[in-house]
Amino acid sequence: MSIQGYFDYNATTPVCSEAINAFVNAAKAFANPSSKYALVKPVGAFLSEARESLCKLVGCATDELFFTSGGTESNNWALKGVFLREFTAAPGESAHIIISALEHSSILEVVRYLERTFHCEVSRLNPDNEGIISAESVLAALRPNTRVVSIMLANNEVGSIQPICDISRVLRDRNIHFHVDGVQAVGKIKVDAHMLGMDTLSFSGHKFYGPKGCGGLYIRRGVTLEPLIHGGGQERGYRGGTEAVAMIVSMGAAAKLASEQLDENLQRFAQYSDLLRKQLTQKVPTVVFNGPKNLSMQVPNTLSICIPGIRAEALAAILDNLNGIQVSLGSACSNNKTMSLSHVLLSMGLTDEEVKSTLRVSVGLYTQEEDIKFFTDAVANAVSILNRISKPVSEDHVLTT
Ligand SMILES: Cc1ncc(COP(=O)(O)O)c(C=O)c1O
Repeated sequence: MSIQGYFDYNATTPVCSEAINAFVNAAKAFANPSSKYALVKPVGAFLSEARESLCKLVGCATDELFFTSGGTESNNWALKGVFLREFTAAPGESAHIIISALEHSSILEVVRYLERTFHCEVSRLNPDNEGIISAESVLAALRPNTRVVSIMLANNEVGSIQPICDISRVLRDRNIHFHVDGVQAVGKIKVDAHMLGMDTLSFSGHKFYGPKGCGGLYIRRGVTLEPLIHGGGQERGYRGGTEAVAMIVSMGAAAKLASEQLDENLQRFAQYSDLLRKQLTQKVPTVVFNGPKNLSMQVPNTLSICIPGIRAEALAAILDNLNGIQVSLGSACSNNKTMSLSHVLLSMGLTDEEVKSTLRVSVGLYTQEEDIKFFTDAVANAVSILNRISKPVSEDHVLTT
């Protein structure tokens, strides 16, 4: 894969060499972690080291972190786990859930399932036009039977960072479970679960240069969730299944690197974001940037760009086929089965036309400064091609004989 053209780090990240080496090394230590003989010792040490690296990245204690198969499982576990606990404790009671309209499908679909199965009431809060959910809007939506609030930390399409600390404060002492989808934040911005104050926080290894199919859930000490996967008592009895040792160790290596490089990366990506904005504005003056105006409220690797009158699908196809550049469509549904308009952008109040003209650009560890110029030149060229194609024939075509 050419890294130069890769501008879709929010979809997934390349696995870093540290994570690959750690995977190979750990895969050789093949003993089952649940076995009792001495051969298991190095495996146990590998797992402990990985857990510690992840706890450092997330800001929690080792007994608060549980390994899963990724962000989707962690989000499923947090929401279903609370519901299973609540319904066992008080069957028949009607319950109310609050989520943001910005959430990823691994939250939206779970909530739809809970709505269908347990007939719970759901409030879906729209963000403001910069993609931010205020603590006040959460407070205003609370009902006496609110059991769960789920708000993501950083949005995957526009990069808006939610005021999780303020929302935690609003929910404190109300006996409401507060889940936070941290998949697009952990490894990219500073995350301290204890300071942020949520009950559960999900993360995924492949968003910070670890392997796909591996992630975790922080569960605050004192909070109980019903297990989603029952089995052989692994993860202190909360998540059955033989540990994916090599994957976890690989994710641990990526987490260690992410912790070490966090400040440096934040600074570098902010610089790239600034360059991208400046160069795009200069080369394509009609460009509009969706998302927070206050850039401290946006993950600096993410940019949502709208070029009015230009179909993002066509633009992305030209970038891919002419320049080998990969970006995401703001308008494509994440499951790729149905091409529906982005629910995130619509919830922020963009029109259908604006949504259809929006691209998501995300940079990462292997983006170089010169790639920004390559990218913005390619966008300007593609826009001029599309503008020429869409002009009426009489304006653009002079027949030569
Ligand atoms: C915000 C968010 N939550 C959850 C997920 C799902 O994570 P995973 O791919 O590890 O299942 C993603 C993946 O794109 C995401 O962006």
